[in-house]
Amino acid sequence: MTKSLKLGSIIFVSLCWVTACSPKMAPTVTNDESVQILQELYPNADPQNLQHGYNLFTQNCGNCHKLHLPQSRTAAEWSKVLPPMTRKAKLTPQDAEAVTQYVMVEQKRLGGK
Ligand code: HEC
Repeated sequence: MTKSLKLGSIIFVSLCWVTACSPKMAPTVTNDESVQILQELYPNADPQNLQHGYNLFTQNCGNCHKLHLPQSRTAAEWSKVLPPMTRKAKLTPQDAEAVTQYVMVEQKRLGGK
């Protein structure tokens, strides 16, 4: 393999890796506003649930269909759809709670529909 071919494949592989690993445009949760909303909605919640919920959401909720972003539904719609979906995703009760908190917080933060 020539040097430039080798370099080319390294660049190609790294590009694929970066693309595959980037979250599917779900909002990130590293901001104070999300934590503040979490404490309003769920006074006893652990702020770490947001990052955990985000990870679970991006890893589990786009497997059977496209990832439905938090802002794509109203809070009322999410309250109906999250219990059956967290069951479909076979999440533990704790994980289901983290996903629910993440979705409801980001729904509220981003204004939703
Ligand atoms: C095992 C497959 C599967 C997994 C995993 C899954 N879903 Fe679904 N989801 C479906 C199917 C099938 C439908 C459409 C039929 C229905 O509404 O039950 C659906 C529909 C939806 C809808 C649209 C419902 C509506 O009426 O607008 C939303 C939103 C949704 N899922 C969110 C999620 C979230 C959030 C997760 C992660 C906790 C998730 N889904 C995980 C299979 C799945």
